[in-house]
Amino acid sequence: MNKTILGILASGRGSNMQAICNSIDAGLLHAKVGLVISDKANAKVLDHAAAKGIPAICIERKNFHSKQEFEAAMAQQLTLYHVNLVILAGFMRILSADFVNLFSGSIMNIHPSLLPAFPGLDAHEQAIAYGAKVSGCTIHFVDEGMDTGPIIMQQAVSILAGDTVETLSERILAVEHELYPQAIRLYCEQRLCIEGRNVKII
Ligand code: GRF
Repeated sequence: MNKTILGILASGRGSNMQAICNSIDAGLLHAKVGLVISDKANAKVLDHAAAKGIPAICIERKNFHSKQEFEAAMAQQLTLYHVNLVILAGFMRILSADFVNLFSGSIMNIHPSLLPAFPGLDAHEQAIAYGAKVSGCTIHFVDEGMDTGPIIMQQAVSILAGDTVETLSERILAVEHELYPQAIRLYCEQRLCIEGRNVKII
């Protein structure tokens, strides 16, 4: 089976990108990171990618007249690098329906809560402020909504007395690093089947 080519979109530190690369290097994931795109010029993820010899480019929204042109530039690069699966890993922008449809069923996102609870920004803070006893992380296919697409995998993480955003996000992040490569692996093995809101693992 051909290697799945991943295109990673990220805005920040890139620890999930590194976890995915580690999984590939360990032979656990039959995929290749073909391209990393960041919308932030100073994002650490670009340095991490470049250090691994992965093509890493910055495409900034401010350099385009419209969101449509900005997304078209990203889509052009993803196509140029023959990307099969788009991985959002801390990408801090909502993608339009046009972009999502272009890569329909082939865009994944990771979110640090058990969706549909606590979508959007500051998920850890939301969970702590709500007084939830459990949060976690969710990997889902992306649709045109915010954190609303069909759920692929979830794992719970307890919220402990005295947890802060820092302590909770650290424990959730450790789970994210395990789960994201597993979900990508299922995709690469063609074991994910989207049926409406339901993702069947076959
Ligand atoms: C992760 O917590 C992820 O769930 C969220 O953004 C963060 C990205 O972290 N969507 P990193 O850049 O992968 O370290």
